[in-house]
Amino acid sequence: MTKKIVIANWKLNPVGDKEAKALFLKTRSLAKELKKTEVVICPPFLYLGAFYKLKTPKNMQLGSQNSFWEEKGAFTGEVSAGMLKSHDVKFSIVGHSERRAMGETDKEISLKINALLKQEIIPVLCVGEKERDMHGEYLSFIKNELFDSLAGVQKKQLKNIIIAYEPIWAIGKSQRDAMSPGGVHETVLLIRKFLTEKYGADSAKLPRIIYGGSAEGENAEKLMNEGHVSGFLVGHASLDPMNFGQILKAVEASQAAHA
Ligand code: PGA
Repeated sequence: MTKKIVIANWKLNPVGDKEAKALFLKTRSLAKELKKTEVVICPPFLYLGAFYKLKTPKNMQLGSQNSFWEEKGAFTGEVSAGMLKSHDVKFSIVGHSERRAMGETDKEISLKINALLKQEIIPVLCVGEKERDMHGEYLSFIKNELFDSLAGVQKKQLKNIIIAYEPIWAIGKSQRDAMSPGGVHETVLLIRKFLTEKYGADSAKLPRIIYGGSAEGENAEKLMNEGHVSGFLVGHASLDPMNFGQILKAVEASQAAHA
């Protein structure tokens, strides 16, 4: 059995300090209701500096949306894994498609993952295709993304990583546009197969796999139970406590995760 987890990716939101704190407090009260689900908030860097001083229940942690592989030095604008650790950050999203679209490469992603693992921060590696073609080329796309991003990662470190499968075509829309639960399950199985191919069969050591891409209160239960994921990476719905609360409830009520 793996622990269920819901990761809130606030992206470049909300616009002000007050709104951010209010959203944090609302999310915290939602998290307090849960017994079997971990909640991670990934706000913009600036807010992390304030949030890590606030009390959180045991099942709620902070995460970052990005990180840098060097520890310190002349790297204007960057934030290192060590700095994140000193702010009690336990998770970090790596290789989100929105960052890849800005030019982030698999090589850089692998450097970030290795730097995070060194600091005992859990990398949340995002992979996913832009579109689904008829010939199944998206499969080798996902496989390459996965293998290149995990360069330098040893088998024993896999359990300290989360893979977020995020088909780009499903991101930032509405639950009608999310991937079907069956499609999610099929892809989760493939990702596990790829990982087994690379690292050998020992499912207890595989990373947890979560889904992202228009997960909302309405589709969360089906995606969870029929998609066989360990939870979600949630974008827009994490900014709306009602919607996010529904997702959390669905995850909490679902069977123990299978992925
Ligand atoms: P979405 O975003 O939930 O708004 O689709 C998910 C993500 O980009 O991580």
